[in-house]
Amino acid sequence: MGILEVKGVGKRFGGLQALGDVNLSVAERSVHAIIGPNGAGKSTLLNCLVGKLIPDTGSVLFDGQSVLGRSPHEINQMGISRVFQTPEIFGDLTVMENMMIPCFAKRDGAFEMNAIASVLSQRDIAAKAEEMLVEMNMADKRDMHASAMSRGDKRRLEIGMCLAQEPRLLLLDEPTAGMARADTNNTIDLLKQIQDERHITIAIIEHDMHVVFSLAERITVLAQGTPLVEDTPDNIKGHPKVREAYLGESTAAA
Ligand SMILES: Nc1ncnc2c1ncn2[C@@H]1O[C@H](COP(=O)(O)OP(=O)(O)O)[C@@H](O)[C@H]1O
Ligand SMILES: [Mg+2]
Repeated sequence: MGILEVKGVGKRFGGLQALGDVNLSVAERSVHAIIGPNGAGKSTLLNCLVGKLIPDTGSVLFDGQSVLGRSPHEINQMGISRVFQTPEIFGDLTVMENMMIPCFAKRDGAFEMNAIASVLSQRDIAAKAEEMLVEMNMADKRDMHASAMSRGDKRRLEIGMCLAQEPRLLLLDEPTAGMARADTNNTIDLLKQIQDERHITIAIIEHDMHVVFSLAERITVLAQGTPLVEDTPDNIKGHPKVREAYLGESTAAA
């Protein structure tokens, strides 16, 4: 059984069946990509995994426990962190201040009443944030305003903020969307580094096939809310059903 098991998930928006019958199993410590044309239901599926949406049918198990009906915060506490399509960072804060937010949330679920404990805890939080900035190779940017950074660095910071919560599953929704090639390649290298050093599970939604084929061990192709194929990158390349999903070619079912 995978660390993430999606079984028979369906989601309808009014008259639109955004997800039909999605089955997906993500192996622990693997990188699993979900690809598919615009409107295929990729973000909707991700929203069902993190408590933003409750599917109409089916189940979603993380490490054997249902995520359905839990709040995004509870799902976060279970060990799932998610990077959004648009980086969710606080532009008015510095890079360091941004990084302290998840470190604080991770360490102090409850408000510290004792002033000394609180100061010590702040020191710990700053140390943890510094450590994360070093891991993200951003220590030199600690006092920069987050809004002044490049799209690639914003994404790097956001990924670091997710990792500060020490997730076991990192979900990424098109992390390289709108990036220049150099930033995309940096993001690929960062995700490879995370995989090598942290051995966590990564599920990535991605349009850019260069990113997908550089990182993924398994690929699920989603089209019109239903998985068409799930296979290794080598088998996915040149698969007729993948071409059909991307080019909208209507060919006879194999
Ligand atoms: N909150 C919503 N209300 C109504 N329709 C939605 C909503 N979210 C997504 N959709 C529709 O569901 C389909 C799948 O969307 P989405 O999951 O965003 O696709 P993808 O991420 O693969 O591009 C699209 O047709 C989209 O317009
Ligand atoms: Mg999307």
